[in-house]
Amino acid sequence: MTDNLFQPFALNDKIELNNRIIMAPLTRCMADDNLVPTRAMADYYAKRADSGLIISEATIIRPDGQGYPNTPGIYSEAQIEGWRKVTSAVHAKGGKIFAQLWHTGRVAHPHFFDGDYVLAPSAEKVEGSVPRMRDLTYIVPKAASIDEITTLVNDFAQAAANAIDAGFDGVEIHGANGYLIDQFLHHDSNKRDDEFGGTPENMSRFPLAIVDEIAARIGWNKTALRISPGAYFNMAGDDKDRDVFHYLLQKLEQRDLAYLHMGLFDDSMEFDYLGGGATDFVRKHYTKTLMGVGGYTAQTGSEAISENRFDLLAIGRPFIANPDYVAKLQTGESLKDYSDDMLMELV
Ligand SMILES: Cc1cc2nc3c(=O)[nH]c(=O)nc-3n(C[C@H](O)[C@H](O)[C@H](O)COP(=O)(O)O)c2cc1C
Repeated sequence: MTDNLFQPFALNDKIELNNRIIMAPLTRCMADDNLVPTRAMADYYAKRADSGLIISEATIIRPDGQGYPNTPGIYSEAQIEGWRKVTSAVHAKGGKIFAQLWHTGRVAHPHFFDGDYVLAPSAEKVEGSVPRMRDLTYIVPKAASIDEITTLVNDFAQAAANAIDAGFDGVEIHGANGYLIDQFLHHDSNKRDDEFGGTPENMSRFPLAIVDEIAARIGWNKTALRISPGAYFNMAGDDKDRDVFHYLLQKLEQRDLAYLHMGLFDDSMEFDYLGGGATDFVRKHYTKTLMGVGGYTAQTGSEAISENRFDLLAIGRPFIANPDYVAKLQTGESLKDYSDDMLMELV
């Protein structure tokens, strides 16, 4: 009944996936104190190498992108070396792995990098505190200057080059879930009146610059992007956001990303300003490879693929609970249910 999930899928003429079941990016906060990936992380990913593609947990491009404890980086030699162990372990099992490149923007916290401020499009603070660290409340960010924006674009591109150096098969740019890139795309967080704000074209400029700079460095076939047209996490939606994403999707359609990935926890959510679900909105305006996600089972994901709602299915929490998710689907063995206490340990 879920046969279509086991069909191979060509992302392009360089990368063919063994099946359409993708391990979604899942932050686990298990890197060492220098934000270097560990042996246990290599083992954890290798166990899931029978998925069509693993997308790594979000990985910070530079120190001031950090907003959670012990999230891995990809800017130091030691971090690149640590990731080499992960990518080799996945490749040894016949798998493929992309690195998810991350800067948290206004939900970064100076506690983690010993700084005085955090950068974002505008000085628009988000309410709340770092999860599980209640005394670290979010601060009013500093609006990035044009020079700082240029440096951020270059640092994303350098992180992509580092990822290839570390043996990754490609990168997924984290443009979703209320983090830095997404903050440029929503009116709630972007109040700029220069060439990076105010209009759909201006608000898309920073995300597209990163996409283009990374593709120039490592190739379109290795460059993917995750977006959240529907604001749902550390972000409030605005009716005007629709035009921003409509414009962005038109521009992405002219490019050759390896895939576009939805940034969602629950794909049954509807957004008034998108006229329904975020995935359906994107599918309407973008015809190339789309990865769906958010509360799917193999059954419902397979149905969505057969209804042509998207092409690839990303699975998150069930992959935490079941390292052997793909094998269990094949044999019909029942799956273990996910629970948050599983986050305490890498299995
Ligand atoms: C513990 C946990 C960590 C996550 N970390 C990331 C992350 O690093 N990057 C990201 O883009 N999404 C992250 N997500 C979102 C997942 O990629 C996915 O969109 C979400 O879990 C919905 O899919 P699911 O219903 O199959 O779990 C995380 C989700 C969970 C539960």
